[in-house]
Amino acid sequence: MSPPHAADRRRPHLVPADLESRPDPYPFFRQLRETGRLQPVVVAGGLEASLVTRHEDVVTGLLTRGLSRDPRNARDAFAATDGYADGREHIFERTLFSSDPPAHTVSRRLVAGAFAARNIDLLRPKVRATAEDLLDRLATRPEIDVMSDYAVPLAVAAIGDLLGIPASDRSMVSRWQRDLDVPPVDSRSAAVAFEASTAIGAYLQDLMRYRRGYPVNDLLSELAAVGRDKSLRGDVMAGAQTLLVVGHTATASLIATSIVHLVARPSGLHSVGTSPPRTAQFIEEVLRYDAPVLLGPFRYATADLQLAGSRVPSGGVVILCIASANRDPVRFGDPDSFRPDRRPNGHLTFGRGVHACLGSSLARMIAQTAVGALATRFPEARLRGEPSALRWRFSQVRCLEAVPLILVPAGAPRP
Ligand code: HEM
Repeated sequence: MSPPHAADRRRPHLVPADLESRPDPYPFFRQLRETGRLQPVVVAGGLEASLVTRHEDVVTGLLTRGLSRDPRNARDAFAATDGYADGREHIFERTLFSSDPPAHTVSRRLVAGAFAARNIDLLRPKVRATAEDLLDRLATRPEIDVMSDYAVPLAVAAIGDLLGIPASDRSMVSRWQRDLDVPPVDSRSAAVAFEASTAIGAYLQDLMRYRRGYPVNDLLSELAAVGRDKSLRGDVMAGAQTLLVVGHTATASLIATSIVHLVARPSGLHSVGTSPPRTAQFIEEVLRYDAPVLLGPFRYATADLQLAGSRVPSGGVVILCIASANRDPVRFGDPDSFRPDRRPNGHLTFGRGVHACLGSSLARMIAQTAVGALATRFPEARLRGEPSALRWRFSQVRCLEAVPLILVPAGAPRP
């Protein structure tokens, strides 16, 4: 065990600015894990933090009350950086992502019903129809880009349907989401994210005002109705804004990465065929092996506390590193091998505790549907080029830049 205060005395590891876009970021985490349970790091933008490396400690961190989601608890740490200086107040705005109980409990309850299993099941046929419609249109093309032609439009449509974002606004909303994905490494990227965040807030306020007068059967209309009670308006906006921003890129990334893992196997999409349970289990291993979140979630200490055998001072920034935990050899045998037969899987990709991902069933359903529709329609689809030639985007969410896929119609001979 590391002695108390050890994290404070060690020289911080610099988290490489290009970590998200590295073909294999995992050796970096392995090195940190082997060095100790809580490692001082400096992330892009100059923010100093303590990174928790092991599965057991990440679970403890996710369940620790004294670790807040509200970055205002670490204002001094942010103030000391270049990447988060002037004009970055939007990171301190209140959203579901940045609040703690009891305020968090109110906002979460307002939106949680929409993510209940029954609602996700009701949405499944619509997502399947959208996937088939996209594939109909793509079928005439010799090659598609899985990310921009299939994964992103499907994720944006499915989440847009759940929330009630008009189809005509979705490309604008996805532009804002992409701007918010840029890591705030300098004042330019931070300003782009700030503008996008302001635009999304104003857009939602307008749409919810409209839906208060003209409700339809969607989540935003439900939230708008709750917002008639002025005392709840802040919570409603916190919930709605989080839902509009989060999840799209990570879900699109999960779809694309799952397809890459499948078509790279000797039996290609036949490995899962048209079996929903096999597809679901395969996707769980993709979630473990290639988590869309590399550096996170972040937490902020509200008091001096002990974590992973070291002291974290009040106001300290903690990164509960899910990606590192997912490759911890103490928890997973042969962690760097992709093994879809792991059961139970036990990855932490959707977090744990009161903040566990609300959209996990939705994201799983969208990815399972996307893979299922592709495997049924184009079981012989194959990558153009080697998987090792694929590039990862420079973004807050780990996400492939493009995935060139050759759509071979069913029945055509394999090369
Ligand atoms: C593969 C896709 C996704 C991944 C990997 C993912 C991951 C996560 C993680 C790790 C957390 C916990 C953060 C923390 O503990 O601080 C989280 C929270 C959350 N996620 Fe997701 N997410 C995904 C998709 C989605 C989708 C599609 C939605 C909804 C449209 C969504 C909505 C949320 C919300 C609202 C929270 C905050 C929950 C709370 O604080 O109570 N996520 N997500």
